[in-house]
Amino acid sequence: MADIKKVGVLGAGLMGHGIAQVTATAGYDVVLREVDDATLEKGIGRIEKQLARAVEKGKSSQEDADAIRGRIHGTTDYADLADCDLVIEAITESLERKLEMWRAVDPIVKPEAIFATNTSSLAVIDQAAATTRPDRFIGLHYFNPAQVMKLTEVVRAVTTSDEAFQTGIDFATAQGKLATPTRDTAGFIVNRLLVPYMLDAIRAYEEGVGSVSEIDEAMKAGAGHPMGPLALSDFVGLDTLGSICDVLWDEFRERRFAQPPTLRKMLSAGWYGRKNGMGFYDYSGDAPVVNPGV
Ligand code: CAA
Repeated sequence: MADIKKVGVLGAGLMGHGIAQVTATAGYDVVLREVDDATLEKGIGRIEKQLARAVEKGKSSQEDADAIRGRIHGTTDYADLADCDLVIEAITESLERKLEMWRAVDPIVKPEAIFATNTSSLAVIDQAAATTRPDRFIGLHYFNPAQVMKLTEVVRAVTTSDEAFQTGIDFATAQGKLATPTRDTAGFIVNRLLVPYMLDAIRAYEEGVGSVSEIDEAMKAGAGHPMGPLALSDFVGLDTLGSICDVLWDEFRERRFAQPPTLRKMLSAGWYGRKNGMGFYDYSGDAPVVNPGV
């Protein structure tokens, strides 16, 4: 299997910063790339905060936290990815933007390196085919928060070689994840099942089955979920949820994957959930309260 030592992570947002942190924690050198210094500093700041919290809680020594931080090199320059053995993209869930990014990165990174996408729903083959290395292209799908969630779906596109796929499995396992193989079908395993559940919760709310908090509290107390489905939608990001719905709808044309009107209206209002402070809940105060506008 390919020997992975240095890993590039494209995007330091909600998923990218977490992927960079778990990768550095597993002992790999990481090059974390963002579009500008301010966005990069924000992502690295989140990592530093979590490392400091782990030290405070006695879960990590200061020495280990410093070593993890020391393995993460932030950059805004694609050229710094040149000698990476694996490059994982975690940028916005837009095929157009991902293809534009791969077209810039592919000629720079050494030809034997493996590329991976953290897409939640787009077909991996559509990105693989746009590079000069479709045989060395896989999906590595992490879950939010990447530092905590135990699963990584390892996606095999029709062009993926056995070696690249096995490298993906070995890499996710080395990060301490349950590396689950899945076929390159929209939504893979988890979002195929989880997204219709979140959409059904929105529909149940629209139909007056329960209020926002009643639906959430019912699923926590009745099904043992750590978060209710509407809080989880906010947590995933309503914009991300909307993009995943659109991909699943395009692929399957089934009502269960269509955006409910409430979601569509919330997106028009610019309510993207926790990431910008407003979704089914308003996150501007000390504790979230139900958004009265929903
Ligand atoms: N980054 C790093 N660590 C975090 C974190 C974050 N953003 N959020 C929580 N944690 C850590 C905490 O530090 C804490 O660690 P310790 O046990 O070591 O102290 C631990 O997680 C538990 O956190 P809290 O006590 O603060 O809160 P909690 O018990 O309510 O757990 C949660 C928070 C882990 C997020 C939990 O609510 C949960 O599991 N929610 C469901 C998350 C989920 O379903 N994610 C998948 C979404 S789908 C997806 O991501 C795929 C996609 O493509 C859309």
